[in-house]
Amino acid sequence: MNVLVTGGAGYIGSLTTLCLMQAGLNPVLLDNFSNSQPQVLDCLEQLAGRRPVCVTGDVRDLALLEQTLVEHSIDAVIHFAGLKAVGESVRQPLAYYDNNVQGSLVLLEAMRRQGVRTLVFSSSATVYAEASEMPLREDARLGPSSPYGRSKWMVEQMLQDLARSEPGWSLTALRYFNPVGAHPSGTIGEDPRGVPNNLMPYIAQVAVGRREALHVFGNDYPTPDGTGVRDYIHVQDLARGHLLACQQGHGRDGFHVYNLGRGQGLSVLEMLKAFELACGRELPFVIEPRRSGDLAAYWADASRAEDELGWKAELGVDAMCADSWRWQASHPMGYST
Ligand code: NAD
Ligand code: UD1
Repeated sequence: MNVLVTGGAGYIGSLTTLCLMQAGLNPVLLDNFSNSQPQVLDCLEQLAGRRPVCVTGDVRDLALLEQTLVEHSIDAVIHFAGLKAVGESVRQPLAYYDNNVQGSLVLLEAMRRQGVRTLVFSSSATVYAEASEMPLREDARLGPSSPYGRSKWMVEQMLQDLARSEPGWSLTALRYFNPVGAHPSGTIGEDPRGVPNNLMPYIAQVAVGRREALHVFGNDYPTPDGTGVRDYIHVQDLARGHLLACQQGHGRDGFHVYNLGRGQGLSVLEMLKAFELACGRELPFVIEPRRSGDLAAYWADASRAEDELGWKAELGVDAMCADSWRWQASHPMGYST
């Protein structure tokens, strides 16, 4: 199976590419390297024993996409390419609608023209509305609170409409909860630019000495220890979810949506403790006011993915922290070290 992986040089895309190669599929990457480094291709070659084909270009380039689909006889597409920073999306909404919505539209048009009908799309738990019941099921009320979230929701709606418009399309949206961790070898991991927005890369940078202390955003939430609770999922489990969605989606008509999470919430302080165990020392933290826009607690009901895709998260918080620490300790400055 030849699979076009847009955004395949990124954090989740690169580890999914590796997972596809190890399962005997042929991934072809397309990335504009706006948020990734070409060195990841060397790491993939080293781990998989062969170098994946990589097309450098933009997912909004219709001619390039059509050419890539034809040249590489693509059977299915996994679409990661896009922008992902919630705060930035509030300041630059047009960039988010352009990359995430327009990018998906151009991709779907290229697929339609070239008769490629299977797509797996990176959606997010951020599409759910705020006051939903826990755990979040796929049929919970939707209503994202940021332009980033709305861009994901819009693409889901496009996929749903397209699947209804004619038979033959197999369109799957995977709603990720909080992906963390790295490849167990420590060679591929998350390499955020600037100050990390997300918890795990921030803790990892404190552990390696790049940041002084973790800022805990709020300890007065109605949660057991007062800090925010999330459903962290190992990126290796996430990668396997894409492999299964791609294999099982191929030839299965319609629009399908799945939560990918562990179904278990962990607090900021629990994550910090787990990371301390992984790196073998205590890590400094300071309590700060709540971060605007944050929710107290949410986690997934991932039973639909288990029932229909045969997917279940296998790796726990120890592996998430150990693998993340292995990556950070061997690459203190990310891919540039
Ligand atoms: P990432 O930034 O590491 O990867 C995205 C990749 O897409 C990068 O390599 C970037 O260079 C590329 N890209 C961006 N815009 C492009 C364009 N217009 N054309 C071609 N390539 C482009 O991000 P990630 O964490 O691997 O996330 C992958 C996908 O999963 C994104 O769509 C993101 O919104 C979604 N997602 C991520 C998380 C998370 O916590 N990481 C959670 C939920 C959903
Ligand atoms: C964020 C995004 C979400 C995205 C997800 C990807 C927001 C509002 N939401 O979710 O759209 O899909 O990342 O993983 O940005 N925290 C700290 N200190 C830090 C960083 C975070 O205490 O330096 C806390 C947060 O308050 C939260 C928890 O850690 O309680 C997780 O935060 P984060 O990793 O940023 O993820 P989310 O906010 O859940």
